[in-house]
Amino acid sequence: MNAQSTQKRPTLGGFKKGGTPIVCLTAYTASMARLLDPVVDLLLVGDSLGMVLYGFENTLPVTLEMMIAHGAAVARGAQKAPVIVDMPFGTYDTRDRALANAKRVMQETGCAGVKCEGGQDMAATVKHLVQSGVPVMGHVGLLPQSIKQMGGYKIQGRNEAEAQKIIADAQAIAAAGAFSLVVEGVIEPLARQITEAVPIPTIGIGASPACDGQVLVLNDLLGLTEKPPRFAKRYVELAPVIKKAVADYAEDVRARRFPDLEHCYTK
Ligand code: KIV
Repeated sequence: MNAQSTQKRPTLGGFKKGGTPIVCLTAYTASMARLLDPVVDLLLVGDSLGMVLYGFENTLPVTLEMMIAHGAAVARGAQKAPVIVDMPFGTYDTRDRALANAKRVMQETGCAGVKCEGGQDMAATVKHLVQSGVPVMGHVGLLPQSIKQMGGYKIQGRNEAEAQKIIADAQAIAAAGAFSLVVEGVIEPLARQITEAVPIPTIGIGASPACDGQVLVLNDLLGLTEKPPRFAKRYVELAPVIKKAVADYAEDVRARRFPDLEHCYTK
């Protein structure tokens, strides 16, 4: 099935270096996309949905079908902001598989582009996707799909060799034609150096104010995650608000105060 979409190719070049930072948030549903769309510059259907929506321990069990279903929902809810959909673990490990799966994501969600994690090892795949007409956002630094190799969610770039490798990763992905780059979980001077070293906009998460934009997982910002990472600022505490509303409803139902006549069809 092909999705109907007005999603255009993401054009973020104007945000590079010193302009107003790019505002990006994750979204997983049409209703949230409708609320966020007027405010943000970019919506990311992150594979963080595996943890946020599905209760997985990490992003590894997320499937292409999940990303397509949520990507299509977000694209239906977004009027203005380009929607980028994460390619999940194991769906882009060869160039051919990457292209076939990225085409499915583009066609079945109507999104504006896909995001792939990885550095120099991924550059040939990114180039292949871009040359085949798929806009790609890169993702370097802490790579949640590689936590088994990285030994957990550890801040990256603490020693010189690691920092130089991440800069080379960023440059390889930019040279491969990615239109922007998520930089996740690296020490502050490194994110600044990466931003200076690549011609495409960097979007930081747990990285640095020097990035060309910022992204957060929506549920962290809304106070809906039990143990958010230290870098995630909570702008509101929605969990107690939701718990109170549900407790009030339960009390009303049990006391037969709901539904009252106002909430019944009398004719
Ligand atoms: O999956 C996700 O939400 C992401 C962002 C945290 C960048 O990749």
